[in-house]
Amino acid sequence: MGAGVALHADSITIRGGQPLNGRIELKGAKNLVTKAMVAALLGDTPSVLKDVPDISDVRVVRGLLDVHGVKITDGEEDGELHLDPGAVESAHMADIDAHAGSSRIPILFCGPLLHRLGEAFIPDLGGCRIGDRPIDFHLDVLRTFGAVVEKLPSGIRLSAPTGLRGAKIELPYPSVGATEQVLLTAVRSEGITELRGAAIEPEIMDLINILQKMGAIISVDTDRVIRIEGVTALSGYSHRALFDRNEAASWAAAALATEGDIFVGGARQSEMLTFLNVFRKVGGEFEIHEDGIRFYHPGTALNPVIIETDVHPGFMTDWQQPLVVALTKAQGVSIVHETVYEKRFGFVDALVEMGATIQIHRECLGGQACRFGQRNFNHSAVISGPSTLHGADIVVPDLRGGFSHLIAALSAEGTSRVSNVGIISRGYERFLEKLQLLGADFTIEG
Ligand code: EPZ
Repeated sequence: MGAGVALHADSITIRGGQPLNGRIELKGAKNLVTKAMVAALLGDTPSVLKDVPDISDVRVVRGLLDVHGVKITDGEEDGELHLDPGAVESAHMADIDAHAGSSRIPILFCGPLLHRLGEAFIPDLGGCRIGDRPIDFHLDVLRTFGAVVEKLPSGIRLSAPTGLRGAKIELPYPSVGATEQVLLTAVRSEGITELRGAAIEPEIMDLINILQKMGAIISVDTDRVIRIEGVTALSGYSHRALFDRNEAASWAAAALATEGDIFVGGARQSEMLTFLNVFRKVGGEFEIHEDGIRFYHPGTALNPVIIETDVHPGFMTDWQQPLVVALTKAQGVSIVHETVYEKRFGFVDALVEMGATIQIHRECLGGQACRFGQRNFNHSAVISGPSTLHGADIVVPDLRGGFSHLIAALSAEGTSRVSNVGIISRGYERFLEKLQLLGADFTIEG
C-alpha cells in the first residue's frame, strides 16, 4: 500500500532546534478505519474503504480478517482497500494467537463473528499501556445481547447458542470501544437496542455512517442515546474514512513546540473545534483552508493553559501528550487534568530529563473530581515554563507519548537518541518521511 518505500527504524538520532516547516497530508483516522474494516465482516457483499493509512494497527486487523477468510486487496487509489467477506470461516487457534497482544481492535470482532459464525475466539489484547484498560463493559454488553462468554488463559471464547437479541443497555462511562461493540453487535441482532451513556466521538459517527450505508437503522438522539433497529442482512459499503484528527493535533503541537509552520492537508475544523480553541488560547495561530489547516507559531511567547481531558466534545486525551511538550515552552504554569486514562503521564519523565519542569499529582487538579481522584493515580500534571529542553537518550513508551518524545527532541538544543520509535508507526503513517519533508534533522540508527 502506498507509493515509494517506507522508512523504518527502531532508533533515531535527532539534532534538535530546527523548526518544522512545510505541508503533510493526512489519511483516515486510525480509530475509525480499523473498526470500519471489522464492519466489513457484517456485509453479505464486498466493501471498499478509502484513505486507509499504512500503519501497523491496520496491518494487525488486516491479518486477523485474513485468517477469518476475508479476502483483502489493495485498490487503485493509495489507501484503498477492498474487503470481501464472501468466504468467512472460523480461524485456526494458532493463526488467531499470532495476533495476541498486538492491538485492542480484536475485541470488536465479537459481535460480527457471532453473527457470521455463531462463535468467536478473541486473543489477548494489546494497545498502549496508559491505564488498566479493562474490557468489562464489552463483555457485559455482549452477555446482555445473549452471548455466552468464557474466559480462557489465552483469550476469550464466545458463542450465541440462542442468537443475539437487542437490549436496553446503559454504559457506566461513555467508552468509545464499548459503544462500537454495541453498534457492531446490535445492527444484526433481533429487535431494538437502546444504548444510553454512549460515546459520540466523530469516529463513532463515521462508523454509524458506514453501518447506515450497509443497511442498518441507527438513530442518534440527544443526551448520548443511540437506538438501533436490528436488520436480518447487511450489504457491503463504499466509504472514504474521516480524517485523523489526532494526527492533525499532533502535527499542530509539533509546529508550536518547534516554532514552526505546518500545513496539515485534509484536516477539518468541525471535528477539531475544541482543540482549536485551546491551541488559540496557548497562543498558536491557525488558518482554516478548504483543503486543510495551517498551524503555526506566533513568533511571540506562548501562554499557559488549564486543560481537562474528557470524552467528546471535550478535549481529547490523545491530544494532551503532544500539547504538553508545547506547554513546557509557555510562559507560566499550565495544568492538565487527565480524566480518561489513569496512567497517561508516563511520558513526562523523559521531558523532565530533558529539562522540563513538570510535577505529577494524584489529586484532581481540575474543575471537577474525576473517577481517578483518591485512588493513587498520578493523573494531574503541573507544567512550569518556559523551559529550554536539551537532548537526551529517551525510550518511547506508547504511541502518543512517543510522538511527544519526537517533538521534544526536535525542539531541544543538542542531540537526542530516541529508541523504540517503531511504536509510533502503530498510529502515524510514514512519520519519518513526513519529518523529512518538514525539514527535521535526523538519522536512522537501525
Ligand atoms: C479509544 O480507546 C481509542 N482507541 C483511544 O486512542 C482513545 O484514547 C480512547 O478511545 C478515548 O477517546 C481506539 O479507538 C483504538 P475507551 P478505547 O473504551 O475504546 C475505561 C490512541 O492513542 N473502560 O473509551 O479503548 C477505560 O479504561 C488511543 O489513539 C473500562 O473501564 O477507550 C478508560 O479509562 C489510545 N471498561 C475509559 O473507559 C471497558 O470495558 C475510556 O476508554 C472499556 C473502557
